[in-house]
Amino acid sequence: MTGSAPAERDITVLVRRATPQDVSGVGVAVEELLLELGGKPRSPQELGEATRALLADESIGVLLVAESEQGEIVGFLGVSWQTAVRIPGRYGLIQELWVHPRWRSREIGAQLLAALGDEARREGVQRIEVGLPGEDFPSLPATEAFYRANGFAPVGLRMKLLLGEDESTGSSRKKIRGEPKGDDES
Ligand SMILES: CC(C)(COP(=O)(O)OP(=O)(O)OC[C@H]1O[C@@H](n2cnc3c(N)ncnc32)[C@H](O)[C@@H]1OP(=O)(O)O)[C@@H](O)C(=O)NCCC(=O)NCCS
Repeated sequence: MTGSAPAERDITVLVRRATPQDVSGVGVAVEELLLELGGKPRSPQELGEATRALLADESIGVLLVAESEQGEIVGFLGVSWQTAVRIPGRYGLIQELWVHPRWRSREIGAQLLAALGDEARREGVQRIEVGLPGEDFPSLPATEAFYRANGFAPVGLRMKLLLGEDESTGSSRKKIRGEPKGDDES
């Protein structure tokens, strides 16, 4: 994916929206991100399908890539547009952000976030959130420092629940024990 080492001269990196031609390049980049973060590996087919679905429907979100002068994908950012009553309305949730290790510390990550800001403003979205990697990720402090340097502030921990297919949704009316607590009880 990322052939020769960047030379000691001024080089340019183009940040642009991904196109269907980028599907396999993005897949390789996501595989590397998952490897780095210790995430569950996904097949190229799964990654290709998810990428194509995102590219086919702008209302879901946007995929940005950073492309070298040689046409290699050296970084990418995926954002999905979410809706929440508490905002209220829509906000952007960064799903993936990655820069190839050999291309880091050249402000490509910052450039991807700036391009995301432009995309969000075009969408009328005024808030961006991101979930940081887990505490066992060795570069977590550096990742946090990166987001802080780009204007992000902490909002608390995120958690996840993986649902099995055959489990009940628990949405029916259920008997509960006792009356609700009185107003004077905490
Ligand atoms: C976080 C990341 C996208 C930053 O990309 P980048 O192009 O290096 O970003 P910038 O050049 O704009 O900023 C560089 C700063 O990012 C921080 N940083 C965060 N993670 C880093 C890492 N793994 N290696 C080096 N610097 C990192 C450092 O503070 C660095 O500052 P420095 O150059 O003075 O040391 C990139 O390091 C990366 O892909 N990390 C692994 C995946 C990851 O953590 N993604 C975010 C998931 S929420």
